[in-house]
Amino acid sequence: MQHYQSLKEDYQFTKEEEKTLKELQPFMEDLADDFISEFYDYIWGFGKTATFLKNKEIIAYHRTKIREWFINLFSGKYDLPYFMYLYKIGEVHVKIGLPTHYVNSAFSFVRNFVFKRLEDKCQDKDADKHIEEIQAVGKIIDINLDMLTSSYREEELSKFLSLSKVEKNILSGLKKFNSYINYFLAGALALVAFFAVGLFGYDIYLLFFSDKGIEKGILTVLGSLLVLWAAIELIHEEIHHLQGKGFAIGAFIMLAMAALIRKILIYSLSAEKSEDLLTIAVVIVCLSIAYWLIGTKKRIGVG
Ligand code: HEM
Repeated sequence: MQHYQSLKEDYQFTKEEEKTLKELQPFMEDLADDFISEFYDYIWGFGKTATFLKNKEIIAYHRTKIREWFINLFSGKYDLPYFMYLYKIGEVHVKIGLPTHYVNSAFSFVRNFVFKRLEDKCQDKDADKHIEEIQAVGKIIDINLDMLTSSYREEELSKFLSLSKVEKNILSGLKKFNSYINYFLAGALALVAFFAVGLFGYDIYLLFFSDKGIEKGILTVLGSLLVLWAAIELIHEEIHHLQGKGFAIGAFIMLAMAALIRKILIYSLSAEKSEDLLTIAVVIVCLSIAYWLIGTKKRIGVG
């Protein structure tokens, strides 16, 4: 565990601030019931809270623990046992697989709750005292968050440290290879977009200098614009991916749909290809369903 004294020093957490927090304890104790009920309203808004706080017993247990924790926040005694207690809370959360951003978000609620109540109470107080209180509360909340999330960081680190030298080499080699492939993919996509521009130009040329007819010509141009647009979407997604964000498989499906819709636009004017047209239409429907399913999954936050 991180040395707790140096942690306090890093936050420049002073004895006076400890005293200020202790003085706030009776006031906060009176607010504990409001805090608990608003805290639960808040965390219940997270998509998967019920998968962690599974039943009445766990909820009741957590409520008493949160109450204790809230009152302890203003104990004025921030010694080794206090830091061990915080570390253990973090460990329990890591063990149950609670996403770290749930903890961060819950802390954002705690901060807002306490600040709001201090604001309401400050009407009859001098401004300096109020600033002292805000600073002390802000620090102890940050220190708590730091401790609770340190278990998450250590979990990541220990996963890496527990690997053998060969495994670590393979892992870093794979990561490097993966980033080269990604840059290659980005280059290839730029090339595709370049060809899509060429296709668009070629279709314009055919529109004016071939005998395929104005109607078919315009539909073909529209089709190639559609492919160009989908390719740009794909490049956009790849840029996101390179910046460390997720990759949307939906963009690939969109590209496939755009290419098929282009084919339909072209075939729609020639009667002899009606069988092909039907096959393409079925494939487009399947792709649309897949696209919709991916979108729904994202909206409800699965995976
Ligand atoms: C300010 C943020 C939070 C604090 C201070 C906190 C505090 C605690 C404490 C003190 C414990 C008991 C640890 C022990 O048994 O030693 C605990 C356990 C637990 N917490 Fe939290 N918690 C927070 C946020 C959350 C959130 C957002 C969830 C779920 C969405 C959650 C779910 C749980 C669960 C499932 C347990 C285990 C209960 C059991 O042992 O059955 N916690 N938490």
